[in-house]
Amino acid sequence: MGKCPSCGEWNTFVEEIIEKDAKSVPKWKTASTTLQRANKPIEVADITFSEEQRLLTPDKEFNRVLGGGIVAGSLVLIGGEPGIGKSTLMLQLALNMPALKVLYVSGEESERQIKMRAERIEVGGRKAEVGSEDKKSEVRGQKSEDDGSEIGFSGSLSRLPTSDIRLPTSRSGKGCYILTETSTQNIFKQIEELEPDIVVVDSIQTLHSAHIESTPGSVSQVRECTAELLRFAKESSTPVFLIGHITKDGMIAGPKILEHMVDTVLQFEGDRHHVYRILRTVKNRFGSASELGIYEMLGEGLREVSNPSEILLSQRDEPLSGITISTTLEGLRPMMIETQALVSDSPYGTPQRTATGFDTKRMSMLLAVLEKRCGFKLGAKDVFLNITGGIRVEDPAIDLGLAAAIISSHEDIPVPFKTCFAGEIGLSGEIRAVNRVEQRIAEAQKLGFEQIFISKYNLPSGGQDKKRIDLSRYNIDIKVVSRIEEVFELLFG
Ligand code: TYD
Ligand code: MG
Repeated sequence: MGKCPSCGEWNTFVEEIIEKDAKSVPKWKTASTTLQRANKPIEVADITFSEEQRLLTPDKEFNRVLGGGIVAGSLVLIGGEPGIGKSTLMLQLALNMPALKVLYVSGEESERQIKMRAERIEVGGRKAEVGSEDKKSEVRGQKSEDDGSEIGFSGSLSRLPTSDIRLPTSRSGKGCYILTETSTQNIFKQIEELEPDIVVVDSIQTLHSAHIESTPGSVSQVRECTAELLRFAKESSTPVFLIGHITKDGMIAGPKILEHMVDTVLQFEGDRHHVYRILRTVKNRFGSASELGIYEMLGEGLREVSNPSEILLSQRDEPLSGITISTTLEGLRPMMIETQALVSDSPYGTPQRTATGFDTKRMSMLLAVLEKRCGFKLGAKDVFLNITGGIRVEDPAIDLGLAAAIISSHEDIPVPFKTCFAGEIGLSGEIRAVNRVEQRIAEAQKLGFEQIFISKYNLPSGGQDKKRIDLSRYNIDIKVVSRIEEVFELLFG
């Protein structure tokens, strides 16, 4: 073609030769197990079960959301809004594992930018850990029996070092390789050479494969690049982490099929103006899909928050109206959160109803129940609900706490200090049972609460048989209630 149909100029076309590999299979080292091709059907009973080999990272929150560490050969997608801290999270992880070779592929930032970020993270890390430098080489060779830490592989992996490594806490940036590249073919070339133990790709939308002609970030490119990385992960048993962008409506940009292809989908979320960030499991082939990790974004990177209840509860000296404490469970972890309500006369014709961190439809339902069953006149009031800390809760067990907060604000009577709630509210005003009530009670007791409201239906056969939940085990005053009116009677007299 002589004339360009787009700009109208002549002879501006340049031929670009795309090298398709002669052998389509790249030469990365494959784990021995994957070499046996042509699988035959096996009876379930005959499948030998060996525990999954997991790598425990120094980041306990990260291990938790992955269902107990990184699984060899897994493909993990980490989604999140721009600027939330995805790159920081993954770079910090890469820097924190000096005993492993981590390849951090970035198509978004230059080496210099990454180095600057790494330095920022390191400076903060070093302050705390002076003098733990360079134990790496000694530790690697010998088997340390006093390995109290749970860091290292729990199984034996073909190429990855086994549990004899106790990852040193120094963050010298060793073992973390940065590659700024967007072509998958070139990335695989580098992978063949470097043989990394872990690969991080930032982000999947910047990659392009020479096998497909569309632009990076397009549906077919994203799918092809993910498919190539998936094959690499499975054949070489190397864990691969993909960072993914999020579209305006909160979906991971790219084809939905992306989420089906990967083993695990993590969502990094939080309010950019809040310091807390939440890493949530959305899908996990290797563990529970409702786990949650909490971080605090500091000047020098992300810090794990191991006791979320403490940060989510504000320190007050006196009880205030409209504030209650509810228990919630995220995955297997009980948490205490502050549930706040503000009820005020509506200056306009249409009352405002706003909920932050809570479903608005559920809020309307709670207001309707309070109006109909308890006779509170809320119809002409503005009602605002808020879950503090910028987190979002879907656990219905916070219903009771919210209802109490609404009435407390409405009546302007504070709920007694050191009181918390765990109960779902049904449409007829009954307090319904919640799951894992014992864990919630234990958490409340641990944090020094003196009184907890739970549903009668949490005790088997409606409170008659107390065998299964032994209330006498706890030092906390447990108020067993079955109807919402009872709760208000006890609280506000
Ligand atoms: P980043 O990891 O670049 O976000 P993403 O990759 O999800 O787009 O995070 C950027 C934000 O994090 C930026 O607003 C600055 C902030 N930040 C800190 O507060 N402390 C730090 O140590 C770092 C590295 C970033
Ligand atoms: Mg980034």
